[in-house]
Amino acid sequence: MSTARTPSPDTAQPAQATPVAKKVYIRTFGCQMNEYDSDKMADVLRAAEGYEPTPDPEQADLILFNTCSVREKAQEKVFSDLGRVKHLKKKGVLIGVAGCVASQEGAAIVERAPYVDLVFGPQTLHRLPSYCVVPYTRGEEVSRPFEDVLVEVAGLADQGVKEVTLLGQNVNAWRGKMGETDEIADFALLLEYVAEIPGIERIRYTTSHPNEFTPRLVQAYAEIPKLVNHLHLPVQHGSDRILMAMKRGYTALQYKSTIRALRKVRPDISLSSDFIVGFPGETEEDFGKMMALIEEIGFDSSFSFVFSPRPGTPAANLADDTPLTVKLKRLQHLQATIEANVRRISASREGTVQRILVEGPSRKSAAELMGRTECNRIVNFDGGPASGRLVGQMIDVRITQALPHSLRGEVVVDASVVG
Ligand code: SAM
Ligand code: F3S
Repeated sequence: MSTARTPSPDTAQPAQATPVAKKVYIRTFGCQMNEYDSDKMADVLRAAEGYEPTPDPEQADLILFNTCSVREKAQEKVFSDLGRVKHLKKKGVLIGVAGCVASQEGAAIVERAPYVDLVFGPQTLHRLPSYCVVPYTRGEEVSRPFEDVLVEVAGLADQGVKEVTLLGQNVNAWRGKMGETDEIADFALLLEYVAEIPGIERIRYTTSHPNEFTPRLVQAYAEIPKLVNHLHLPVQHGSDRILMAMKRGYTALQYKSTIRALRKVRPDISLSSDFIVGFPGETEEDFGKMMALIEEIGFDSSFSFVFSPRPGTPAANLADDTPLTVKLKRLQHLQATIEANVRRISASREGTVQRILVEGPSRKSAAELMGRTECNRIVNFDGGPASGRLVGQMIDVRITQALPHSLRGEVVVDASVVG
């Protein structure tokens, strides 16, 4: 769904003698898919209209909020942020709402915030039963053509990119026709082809669905060393009764057998997940089953949320008599358990050598660098005199200290990079 309005004549910009690049401020909420969409929006706006990005809304000619509607709080945040930039309309600034709230709310946004000029969603609406609003806002699953993906990755590799993330909701449900043949590739085969592209050293993907986690995909972990030793596989709950009410399509046992098969081929793989606490009808017993699953699997850093009823989803109409205080207590307990796992896993890295992709200056100190391990942990380290040359490189670091949310390391001298 999309609506567009032209600015009123009294908000038109005065003509300028020297052309000055127009500026766009894009604020992104939600998932990595939205971050990707925001990058695309910036590219399109630059190519078509000459807009340059600015980090300051006060400097912008166009302000875009790329929104998320997965939880009510995220959605409401958009309206409060819109209120905060409303005064800039006086300068003739255009304001747009993109993304999943735009798709979900459509013209209702303009009713509530009449100063909004543009509303556009990621895709058309497509109705599926689920607690989650994403299928309603993102639309029908679409697989990008096989060659398209490979050409994009090869182009990135040519620019020196070493690590790629294949992105999509249910990304492992991807299927694509291979060229002119009648053969249909599945996600495992796509991974094989991506791994063959020269220059690509690491492959990640997110977010995958347990229902599409095929034995072929498990086997890919045995055969493709470039697939990182980390998997984010949202389970949402550990009680079959609740999984059924969520219409997830698998049982806790089925999820556990997928993990068991995976650990057979990658014994030390780190696993993270998403959890929803306080789904309508969740009892202490159900919650206990979720905690048992968490203890058994030993998840690494994960995301957990209290259920947020989303308008238009069947789950929003389910009877829910668990008080919020109880739900919050359960969430706290779950998060404390996972946090303890995270610390244990981090501590086990001390003294080991980890290969990291150096991303740039450390957030903690500009004099240091930061990189990421395969299992997505941030490592801060002193790059020494070779710092400038290390950015964008894969290097080995020895972990000297495990901190609550990052690791510290020191470079293991690698003549090919440092020399
Ligand atoms: N593709 C993922 C899946 O099907 O498992 C869903 C990804 S969704 C963008 C991110 C996470 O938000 C979900 O995994 C779920 O834990 C959480 N979430 C979705 N709907 C929610 C709701 N109504 N209330 C609370 N959390 C929700
Ligand atoms: Fe992502 Fe939020 Fe949409 S999680 S798919 S931006 S509802």
